[in-house]
Parts: sequence; C-alpha cells; structure tokens
Amino acid sequence: MCARREAQDAGDSSDLEAENGPCSVCMLTEKTLKIPLREVHGLDPRIVSARILVHFMVDFLIKLTGRVVVQCNVRRYKMKRGGFGSMKQNKYDDPGFFANYSQMARSIGGLDAAGEWPAFRALLPKLRDKNVLDLGCGFGWHCRYARERQARSVVGVDLSEKMIARARESTNDSAIEYRQLAIEDIDFPAGEFDVVFSSLALHYVERFDLVCRKVHHCLVLGGTFVLSVEHPVFTALAAQDWYYGQHGERLHWPVDHYQDEGPRQARFLDHDVVKYHRTVATHLKALLDAGFTITKLSEPQPTREMLDKHPEMRDETRRPMFLLIAAVKNGK
Ligand SMILES: C[S@@+](CC[C@H](N)C(=O)[O-])C[C@H]1O[C@@H](n2cnc3c(N)ncnc32)[C@H](O)[C@@H]1O
Repeated sequence: MCARREAQDAGDSSDLEAENGPCSVCMLTEKTLKIPLREVHGLDPRIVSARILVHFMVDFLIKLTGRVVVQCNVRRYKMKRGGFGSMKQNKYDDPGFFANYSQMARSIGGLDAAGEWPAFRALLPKLRDKNVLDLGCGFGWHCRYARERQARSVVGVDLSEKMIARARESTNDSAIEYRQLAIEDIDFPAGEFDVVFSSLALHYVERFDLVCRKVHHCLVLGGTFVLSVEHPVFTALAAQDWYYGQHGERLHWPVDHYQDEGPRQARFLDHDVVKYHRTVATHLKALLDAGFTITKLSEPQPTREMLDKHPEMRDETRRPMFLLIAAVKNGK
C-alpha cells in the first residue's frame, strides 16, 4: 500500500490532494501529500530518496518492456499492451465465473429477464431474410431471437468454449452456426452480413476502433450494426459500485477518471475481470471513422412495469448502466 493510502487509513486525510491517486510502485507521495513523508512514516529522507530512484528505474523498465501502468481509483495494476488481439481475456471459461454467470436471471430467463433488452430490440432493424452476425453471442439468446424473426442465417461467435457449448445445447436450428472465435479475430468476406449485433461483449475488447472497421467490412452497404456496452459512466471506476453512507445507504454513483481510457480491473460475479473503459465520444468517433452513420442512441432505464415488478431496480434510474448504439454502413 502506498503512503497516501496509509495516511488515509490512519485518518490523516486533511492534506490530501484529490486529483492524484495512490501509487503502489513507489512512495512518491510528496506530490500528493502536503506533509513531509517523515512525519507520516518516520522515514529517513535517504530511504525516501532511494525509493524515488527505484521508482524512476521501475518506471523506465516498465516503459522499456512495453508494459503500461494503468491508474484506477483504488489501485494500479500492470498489463501488457500489445497489438490487436494480444489481450483476450476468456473469463467465461473460468469454472467459478461460468457457474455464477449461469445463475444470473438473464442466463436462466433469457432476453425477457435482461433489463436492457426492450431498448436493444427497439434498435434492431427488420431481420426477415437477413444474414446476421452476433459478436460475443454467449448462450445464443439473440441468435435464436433473430431466427424467430425469420433471419435467413445467423452466425454467433464467442471466445468461450463453455458459452458456445451451452448455446449449441440450447439450439435446434441448422440455420444458426456457432463458432468459438474471438471478436478480434473475425475475418469474414466483404458484405457477408446484413446485420451485425453485439450485446454486452465489446467492453471486453481492447480495440473497439478495429472491431468497427472489421464489422464495416463484413456488412453490406446500408447494413446495420447494433451494439450494447456497459455505459462509460458505469465503467469509469474499477470499483463499479455505489458510494455508501454510514448506514450502508447508497449515496451516489461515483464517476472519476472518466477521460482515462483503458483497462479496469473490475469485480464482477465475485471475480476479477478486466473491462475496457472508453468515453461516449470515443465509441461514436470509432464508428464514424470506420464509415458508419450513427442512427440511434439509447441509455435505457427500467420500464414502469419492471419497477413495479422489481422495486429493487429503482436505483437503476439514478445512473445509466448501458449504452446502446445503432449505426448504418454508409458508402465510405
Ligand atoms: C455478458 S456476456 C453477453 C452474452 C450475450 N451477448 C448476451 O447478451 O446474452 C459476454 C460474452 O462475451 C464473450 N466475450 C468476451 N470477450 C470476448 C472476445 N474477445 N471475443 C469473443 N467473445 C468474447 C464472453 O465469452 C461472453 O459470452
């Protein structure tokens, strides 16, 4: 733990500067504390100097080896930054995570149990006679929906063997093909699909811009791309949690480091999961740069009906959890 956090834990937070987060690599806290380190820890200044030196050496080595230190609100962690596809996190094949995911209401009840589904469905174009691609298809709920809507063919891709296996078990339809494949690695011929959609998978992908280009390539002219991701207001902080009062009441949803795009070590279903935070503007820019026209945006909240049925969902109206975008391939 860094000196700033230690001072905080010791209740001495009066002189803390809010804008600088803690650093676990070093003890460089003079910049963040307006009190001398010696007073906080009783450290010899020579030790502090040595730590500063170590900090710069570690920092230099990190840069040299292509590693990047990512700052989040509560901790820092290191990840390799590589080319497209170098970071594919297959969390859904982790047995514990998969077991917990399988217990979620949406995993049991399907689309009707997914809070954002009515809004997502509203963004979809007509699917009759369309060739459809689902990126990060999971259990295949959206693929089967597309066929219920008379899509001609559906391809569902997902990185996870377990998710694909469950999707296959749940499907009895030769017009749906499931492929175990990373979204980053799709390589479909130009104009192969009329509609591409992706539900809550793209915040696991490092390079959204490259996905947009690949999707643009494999869509027909005028084809539609509909996607949902966890909302940037939701992903900005790794903690992904409310700020609680003394009695455990939810005071507010904290948003910080919004402009610091990149990976977050989040906690989901009792597991550490890396999610990628991007601003709303970055999502839109990536689509526009790839040659899409953005046609619809949605930040859904529970419907009146849902709130009556599940009063515990009321807090979902206090901040957006999902960002939904529909875009159409134009002639670029
Ligand atoms: C929250 S689930 C959503 C599943 C489904 N789309 C739905 O809405 O029910 C996220 C899915 O994305 C998949 N996924 C995550 N990263 C991926 C990647 N890089 N390539 C392909 N699939 C990925 C996971 O395996 C998981 O099945």
